[in-house]
Order: sequence, then structure tokens, then C-alpha cells
Amino acid sequence: MEKKTFYITTPIYYPSDKLHIGHAYCTVATDVIARYKRLCGYDVMFLTGTDEHGQKIEEKAKAAGVTPQQFVDNIVTGPKGILDLWKLMNISNDRFIRTTDDYHVESVQKIFRKMYEKGDIYKGAYKGMYCTPCESFWTESQLVDGKCPDCGREVHYAEEEAYFFRLSKYAKPVQDLLETGTFLEPASRVNEMINNFIKPGLEDLCVSRTSFKWGIPVDFDEGHVVYVWVDALTNYITALGYLNDKYDDFEKYWPADVHVVGKEIVRFHSIIWPAILMSLGLPLPKKVYGHGWLVIDGGKMSKSKGNVVDPYVLSEKFGVDALRFFLMRTFPFGSDGNFSNELLINTINMDLANDLGNLVSRTTAMVEKYFGGVLPTEREPEQMDEELIAMITSTRKAYEGHMDAFHPHFALEEVFKLIQRANKYIDETAPWVLAKDEAKKARLATVMYNLLEALRVALTLLVPFIPESCEKAFAQIGAHPEDRTWDNAEHYGILPATVAVHKGETLFPRLDVEKAIAELEEMHRAASQPPAKPVLPDVTIDEFAKCDMRVCKVLTCEAVKKSEKLLKFSLDDGSGKPRQILSGIHKFYEPEQLVGKTVVAILNLPPRKMMGLESNGMLLSAVKEVNGKEELHLMILDDSVPAGAQLC
Ligand code: MSP
Repeated sequence: MEKKTFYITTPIYYPSDKLHIGHAYCTVATDVIARYKRLCGYDVMFLTGTDEHGQKIEEKAKAAGVTPQQFVDNIVTGPKGILDLWKLMNISNDRFIRTTDDYHVESVQKIFRKMYEKGDIYKGAYKGMYCTPCESFWTESQLVDGKCPDCGREVHYAEEEAYFFRLSKYAKPVQDLLETGTFLEPASRVNEMINNFIKPGLEDLCVSRTSFKWGIPVDFDEGHVVYVWVDALTNYITALGYLNDKYDDFEKYWPADVHVVGKEIVRFHSIIWPAILMSLGLPLPKKVYGHGWLVIDGGKMSKSKGNVVDPYVLSEKFGVDALRFFLMRTFPFGSDGNFSNELLINTINMDLANDLGNLVSRTTAMVEKYFGGVLPTEREPEQMDEELIAMITSTRKAYEGHMDAFHPHFALEEVFKLIQRANKYIDETAPWVLAKDEAKKARLATVMYNLLEALRVALTLLVPFIPESCEKAFAQIGAHPEDRTWDNAEHYGILPATVAVHKGETLFPRLDVEKAIAELEEMHRAASQPPAKPVLPDVTIDEFAKCDMRVCKVLTCEAVKKSEKLLKFSLDDGSGKPRQILSGIHKFYEPEQLVGKTVVAILNLPPRKMMGLESNGMLLSAVKEVNGKEELHLMILDDSVPAGAQLC
């Protein structure tokens, strides 16, 4: 029988030079659901990617002095870029799309033309407000205190010839879509969309720009590039091969089962995206799930506020599974969650170290101690076992309900009820007392077996959240791949009667809260230091010897008129003829401090004119940024070194 498919997506990310834990939240959650569906036996397509066009990128690239393509390549594929972050977070995406990929560009051009030919895109003129950071158009009435309602930043007036999409035509069908069924969840977001966007009247949407170039060109009207959100939203179908030859699984996976998105982009996914699909005559996604934000002290994490939490630091300190677990266990997915280091450490200590970690280590240690690691076949069940066994067989169902409703934190709650019940069962059965009585061996073996079974089920259900740790724990409790299937997670008695355990390393060591916080703060401080200047490529000794560096005595030194930076030096370089050098160091030295000093200069640089004066060489100094301020120290030698002495 063919497997049922499940198509799940994250938003495609803007290439950001400071990816934070909030970014990871959305993708980790999507990954957990994708892994869960695979565990249930679905043929899953999990798509993520990057949203690389737009005015914002063009401006940032210009400021960095690189091309937009170089800029995005560096952030997507460079060190600690987006691909690295997903690798770090153990994200199991099946496909990764970049909107600069040729096949996507080709499809978007065809999509734009198709909607134009249908009469759903027409030419007009755009006059209104634009928020560049959000790449969003706003009407005056949508602004909040004159600022962008999404990010609160300044907007600017934009007026240009543009193409428009007849979004207004689709207002009624989109409203019907939102009001019926469960297209948009959590349900609280539906009213927000209808009241804030549809009821005030859906205006046609400006879908092309002419004032910048970094976008997909409209292929039938030179100078226009496709509005970045049309380019971005369509990734969900182009990545399956819609109107391109790169992939051919559109029929197989479309419509998407769920687009997981952050709350601020629900508007694009639940209004504009369905309208585009209606215009293209394509089936609509089954669901858009708008999750909440991870915030700090109630406010947004942002580079400008300097409060971003670095996922590299957290996973280096606690391990990636602990981090993934914390994100999913602590915050209800649909609501905002307030991040703090204390909360993270407490969650690790309580759930992972105390509850789960202890259960694994106590159980395996006891099986090793009392049975040499292998259980005997004799059993002696008692009535008191029944409650635990009932939980072993019923937890999967409760978990499944929550996972299917996109409530991973409730699903984890169910798993931890089982784990806590198993820990209590140890206290109730007191295996250390049973172990003292030879006649109780069969009873002791039963207790151990029940604990291992509870662990087998709990770990199977934890695999989507903490895959690597579960793998290690399965090896410790002697559960083989065939024991940890989805089907077996609702049955008791799956592990072989003579199961063999192997006590291993502690899965989640308990943390000292204060010490861990202090270490984290230090690590964050170190990680936020600007990277050291790269070491330059090697030079040969012959190349180095070409630099004529000599000791010089400062004969005179004066400030250059009308220049804030330049000092003019007359130097004795040992040749008998004074040499003039200009140096931009006035910010650091007054001329009178330097007269008579013994300095070092490189002499064989080509002459250079500055402020109309010729400079024949350059003084050497040492430069370093300290606490965000540049410090410069001119190389000043002992006066005994004679003028003209060569550096070698
Ligand atoms: N490029 C658009 C999406 C286009 S989808 C067709 C975009 N990119 S983004 O990089 O700004 O955001 C990507 C995802 O990260 C969004 O779902 C956003 O909500 C999420 N998050 C960014 N910061 C976040 C938090 N602090 N907390 C939770 N999620 C956050 O939007």
C-alpha cells in the first residue's frame, strides 16, 4: 500500500547576519512535527529555505560593499549561516529552496505572467507607505502612530509605476475560507485577520517594484521586479516543481498539509497566499498554523536591542537536544513565550536530568547490579503494576491527539506523566528491598521489565524532540529498532523477556543554576565580540623583503590645515635628504608629542597625494578595537636606534 503523504513547510528565512533562538524556534517546531509524522509512517516532505530578494538585501549588500548575490551566499552558506544553523539544530528538512535558485526564478516569472494573462494582475501606479525592513506596503490607516504596524519602524512614502494583484476580487472567498473549518489555527488568529484586514476592505496588492533591482524581473516589462512576498510565498509550490523541471512531485505533495509560520506573517499566508492560489486555480493548503514568538522580558528579540540569544552558545553549553526540548516543552506553541536562562536551566534539571535521566540511569544501574545486565525469564506480576502498564499502552493515544493539534507541549506533558509515574513506581516497589530476598527475584525482574517498557514507550514518543539522546538511551535499555516503532508504542510486552541493558554515560547532567548562568553570560559576551580580523594569506620571505622599512627620526611635525586627521612629518630616513610623509593619526597624537621621536616607516610605496600634499611612504603603527573604540599606537623605538636602520 502506498504511504500517505504529509507536506509541511517553515517560512523561508530572510538572510540575517544575526540568527537567534527565536528563528530556531519555528524551524525546530516544524522539524518535531515532521519527525513525528515520519514516525507515524507518513511519506513526509519537509521544506525550508531562504527568502533572498528585496530592497532590504540590496541596501545591506551595498553597505557591505558586495553584490547582493555575494551577500546572500555568505549568510546562507557561510560559517554560522542558515544552513549551518539548521545542521546544528538537527533539522531534518527534505528540501531547501533559495529564491535565487534558477528554477524558482523561472517559475515565478511564469506564475506572474499566468496571473497577468488571466486579468488578475494589471498595471497601475503605487502611491503609499512602504516599510523596507518588512518589505510591506501599508495604507495610512493601517499605520500605528505613523509607523509600521508590524515592526514599529519608520515607513517611507513610495510612488512608482507598478503592477497590482486583484486581491479585492478574492476577499469573499478568502473570508469564507477563514470562517469555515480549521484553515487557520489557533482559532484566535482568525478574528484578527477578518477584523483587521478583511472587514476594513481588502485593497488590491502592489506586486511589482521599479525603484530597485534585486528581485525576479517581470519578464514582459523591463524594469519591474516581482514583489518579494509573491516571490517568497510561491516557494511552497515551485519547490515541488510547479512550472519548472527541477522537481516533479507537485502532484504528489500539493496541497500542503500545513504551513507553520510566526504570528506576524499569518496575514500573508492566510489572505494573500490563498488568493494567489485561487487565481492560479490551484488547491489551497489544508492549514496555516501561526505560532507565537519567543520574547525576552516581554519584548521582541532584536539585534538593535542587543538582546538576541545565540543558539550556538546555548547548544554548546547544554547540547542541542536539551535546547530543542526546552523550546517545545516550555511554551504553548500558539502563544508567546518569555525566554530566560533560568527557565532553560530549570527545565533541563527538572525534566531531563531528574525525571528522564534518572529513570534511565536508575533502571539500567539496577538491572546491571541485580541481574548482571540481563533479565531472567521468570515473572511475578502484582496488581500494583496495572496502573503503570495502563499508562504504557494509553500514552501514545493522548500524545497523538496533541501532536495532531499542533500542541507539542501538551504531548510532552503526557510523556512526562508516564516518566513520573515510572519513577514513583520505583519508590513504591522498592527494588533494593526485593533484591535482598532471593525468593523475590521473579518479582524484581517484573519490576525492572515494567520500567524498561515504560522507558521504551516514553523514548519512542520523545524521538521527534530529542532524537540523538533517544538513540543513546535506546542503546542503554536494550531496545532495538523493531521494538521502538510507532505501532509498538501502544503495546506492553514488546522488549524481549531476556532484555540486556548497558548502563552508559549520563544523558543530561544536572546543572548548578548560578554557575551555568554565569558561564552562559560569559559565553554570550565572547560570542558577541566582533570577529578578529582574518589572518592574511602567506607571503614568501622574498615578498616580505621587498618592503623597505626603515627607522626614521621625526624632524618636524605639524597638523595639515583643513584636515582633522592628517599630520605632516619631515623625517630623517638616513639618506641625508628629508622625507615627507602624511599620516592620519591626529586623533591619537598632537604634533609636539612626536617631534624628535624615533619611528618606523615603509618607504617604497608609490607617492600619494593627500589634501594637495605628497606623501612618500607610511608610518607604521599598531591598531586594535577595544570596547568598540579604535586604539592606535605609533611604533616608537628607543632613540639609540639610528636613522636609516632597515627592518628585516
Ligand atoms: N521571509 C519571511 C517569510 C517568507 S515565507 C513565504 C520571514 N522571514 S524571517 O526570517 O523574518 O522569519 C522567519 C520565521 O522566524 C518567521 O516565522 C518568524 O515568525 C520566525 N521568528 C523570527 N523571530 C522569532 C521569534 N523571536 N520567535 C519566534 N519566531 C520568530 O518572515
